[in-house]
Amino acid sequence: MSDDDLPPFFAHLGGTFAVILLQVGRQTGLLDAVLAGGGTATDIAGRAGSDLRNTDEWLRGMTVAGYLTHDDGVFAPTQMTATTFSPAFPVSANSVLDGLWAAPQVYDDVVAAVRSGGGIPSERLVAYAPFAGVNTPTYEQALVGDWIAAVPGLTERLAAGARVAEIAPGNGAAAAVLGRAFPASTVVGYDLATSRSGTATRGPCLTRVRSTSSTASTRSTTWAIRWLSWPAYDDCWRRMAWCCSARPT
Ligand SMILES: C[S@@+](CC[C@H](N)C(=O)[O-])C[C@H]1O[C@@H](n2cnc3c(N)ncnc32)[C@H](O)[C@@H]1O
Repeated sequence: MSDDDLPPFFAHLGGTFAVILLQVGRQTGLLDAVLAGGGTATDIAGRAGSDLRNTDEWLRGMTVAGYLTHDDGVFAPTQMTATTFSPAFPVSANSVLDGLWAAPQVYDDVVAAVRSGGGIPSERLVAYAPFAGVNTPTYEQALVGDWIAAVPGLTERLAAGARVAEIAPGNGAAAAVLGRAFPASTVVGYDLATSRSGTATRGPCLTRVRSTSSTASTRSTTWAIRWLSWPAYDDCWRRMAWCCSARPT
């Protein structure tokens, strides 16, 4: 019987444990320590400030799972692992891991909702907030140069100044990218959830917070976050929506 003949349960089980071990590495600093360069368990435990025996166990587990190599006592990230956790990777693996770490908080609600068909209150879904950053690198890498550029005339129109509505912006990363690239345009995002971004705060009145990503930009971007409470919006929007505007200052 080859590995291919194993029931899918066992393949999935191994992946589940590997993902949990990865996140243990993020939380303890072991993942950063090994990504910073290879080394022995003693080197990596020293960098992370963690217990030597448990560091050795973690390194061996990550090696078996295919994330690290091991040669004569020296552990190192594979090229694929280094790429997956680099800023150039189009998906934020860290956001995925943080989201998976928090998701069990909602499992009982999921079970109840499946039984009753009643859904899950949106405030319970706050636990999923870390997932909000998953697509941020993709937007930073592709939104302006690839996607918008592929639509004839769109770049020019945004450069000249346009009003853009983004439905379900999540953490607002795409709006921030647009705000920086097209300072003459205004981007307003409408989302059922309250702020999911560490850089944006929700409040009953206008709150201005600076997008951390704007610090790398020559043109700073400010965010205006406010409740939408106008009667013109339907009840759903009035209760839940928040609005973020990216404008040049
Ligand atoms: C998977 S996230 C995607 C966020 C963002 N567009 C991105 O790609 O990173 C889905 C978002 O849709 C929002 N959402 C779900 N249903 C919605 C609705 N009916 N109206 C507005 N936003 C909604 C959620 O609150 C969440 O922020």
